[in-house]
Amino acid sequence: MDFIIESYDWNKATGSTLLNIKADCIVVGVFHAQTLSGIAQTIDAATQGLISRLIKSGDLNSKAGSTIMLHEVVGISTPRVLLVSLGNQVVLSPKIFIDVSRTAWRAVLATRAASVAWMLTQVAVNNCDAIWGVRMSVLTLRELTYRYIHTKSKVASDSSNDGTLKTVAIVIDSEHTEHKKALRQALDESVAIANGIDLTRELGNLPSNICTPTYLAGIAKQLANDWQLKVQVLEQKQIEILKMDSFLSVAKGSVQSPKFIIIEHQGTNTKQAPVVLIGKGITFDSGGISIKPGDSMDEMKYDMCGAASVLGTFRAIAEINLKLNVVGLIPTCENMPNGNANKPGDIVTSLSGQTIEILNTDAEGRLVLCDALTYAERFKPVAVIDIATLTGACVTALGHYNSGLFSKDDALANMLLDAGLYASDPAWRLPLEEEYQEQLKSNFADMANIGGRSAGSVTAACFLSRFAQAYPWAHLDIAGTAWKSGSEKGATGRPVPLLTQFLMNNAKQCLPEHT
Ligand code: BES
Ligand code: MN
Ligand code: ZN
Repeated sequence: MDFIIESYDWNKATGSTLLNIKADCIVVGVFHAQTLSGIAQTIDAATQGLISRLIKSGDLNSKAGSTIMLHEVVGISTPRVLLVSLGNQVVLSPKIFIDVSRTAWRAVLATRAASVAWMLTQVAVNNCDAIWGVRMSVLTLRELTYRYIHTKSKVASDSSNDGTLKTVAIVIDSEHTEHKKALRQALDESVAIANGIDLTRELGNLPSNICTPTYLAGIAKQLANDWQLKVQVLEQKQIEILKMDSFLSVAKGSVQSPKFIIIEHQGTNTKQAPVVLIGKGITFDSGGISIKPGDSMDEMKYDMCGAASVLGTFRAIAEINLKLNVVGLIPTCENMPNGNANKPGDIVTSLSGQTIEILNTDAEGRLVLCDALTYAERFKPVAVIDIATLTGACVTALGHYNSGLFSKDDALANMLLDAGLYASDPAWRLPLEEEYQEQLKSNFADMANIGGRSAGSVTAACFLSRFAQAYPWAHLDIAGTAWKSGSEKGATGRPVPLLTQFLMNNAKQCLPEHT
C-alpha cells in the first residue's frame, strides 16, 4: 500500500476542483454544526445540498463515527463518497479522532476501492497538530490491514481486507511548501512506525515451535542486513564465558539453545552515548518446574513480545534514519521443565555477582533481564529501558489499556509517559519505593526471585532495579498490552509507538549526559 500527501487549497475549493480528485473513494468529515464547513460545504454546494438533506433526514447521524457511503454522486468525480460524522463539536478529542478514523477505514476497506483520498487530516483535534493527524490516519489504517497468514494453508477470501486498497492520498489543506514538507516527513515516519508495529505483531503471533530463540536471532540478522545495522548474536558458549548464569539457568530446561542478541543503530557520532532497549525474549513460558495451569497457556508464546517490540522499534528507527545511537539487547530462550531445569530453591549467581534464590521458576523474566541489565553497563548509556511481559499482576492492576511504567528517574519517566500519550500507546506509572524491596529477602541468597502475593509487579520491578544502578533506567511491563485474548487474539505491536516516539523526541533534544 502506497501513501502520498496531496495538497488542496480549500479557500479556492469549488465543485469543479473536486472533480480533479482522482480516487475510487473520497472520505469526508461532516460536523453537525449550524452551517457546514470545509470540504463538506463544497460537496454540499456541488451536489445541490445533498449533505444538508442527509443530515436533515437523519440518514447521516450526528453521533461521531456514523458513516454513510454514497455512490456515483452527480457533481463529484470519485465514484464513492464516504461521509463520516464528526459530531457536534468543532474541535475533536484525540480519542474521538482515532475512533472515527478506525470506523472510516473499516468502511473504506469493505468496498472494492483501490485508491482513496482521505480528507480527515484537516480536522482540528484538541492539542494535536497536523503531524499527529497524519500519524494517526496512517496507523489506524495499517492496524486494520495487518493480516496473519504465515501458518494458514489458504488465505480467507471473504475478508474485506484482501489487499484491494493500493493507494492512499492524505489530502492536506495547504500549498505552503514548508508545511507540506513536514507532513510528507510525518507520513514517511508513520509508515516506518507501522512497518515496525507489523514486524512486532508478526513475531508475537508466530507459534513458539517456529519463533524460537534461533528464529529471533535470524530475524535480527536479517533486519541488520536490510537496514545496515550492527548485529551480534552470542551463542550458549559465549554466554557461559560471560557468566550470565541467571539467564542460562532459565534456558537449561529447554532443548532450544539460548541466544543473546545485540543490535545497534548508529544514527549519530559514535561518541554520543546510546539509549539501550532491553526486550524479554522468552519464546515460550511454560512456567518451568513451577508449571503454569493449562488454561490459556498457549498465550505464553507471547512472552517474547518485549523482544519483538525492540526489533520492531529498530525496524522503525532504521527506516526513519533517526539521528540517535540506540542499542538493543535481547536475552532469548524458552522456559521449560525437564531434568536440567531450575528447581524451586536453586540458587544462581547473576552476571553482576549478586546471588538469587529461585523460589518460583515461573518468575523467569527477571532472571533473564537482570543479566542483560548488567551487560548494558558497558555501553555507558544515557538511559536504559527494559520492555517485558513480566507479571500477571500488572494485568490485574492496569488491565489492557496502560502499560506499567516503573522508574526512579522522574525526568525519564515523564518523557516516556509523554511519548506514550502522544503516540496513543499509553503507560501508567507505578511505584518503585525502597520499602517494597524487603519482600525480596532470602535467607540463603542476596535476594529471592519472588516477593510474595502482594504488589507482584512492583516487587518484580524492585528486583530489576538492583541490577540497574549504573544508569537512568525505566521498566515497562507490557503483560496486559502486548496482545489481545479471546476472539480477537493477536499481538498489538505495543509499545513500538511509545518507544519510537520516545526515541524521536530524544533525537531532537538529547538526553542529559549521565554523571
Ligand atoms: N510471562 C509471565 C507473566 C504473564 C502472565 C504475562 C500472564 C501475561 C499473562 C511471567 O513470566 C510470570 O509467569 N510471572 C509470574 C510471576 C510470579 C510467579 C511471581 C506471574 O505473573 O504469575
Ligand atoms: Mn513465567
Ligand atoms: Zn514469562
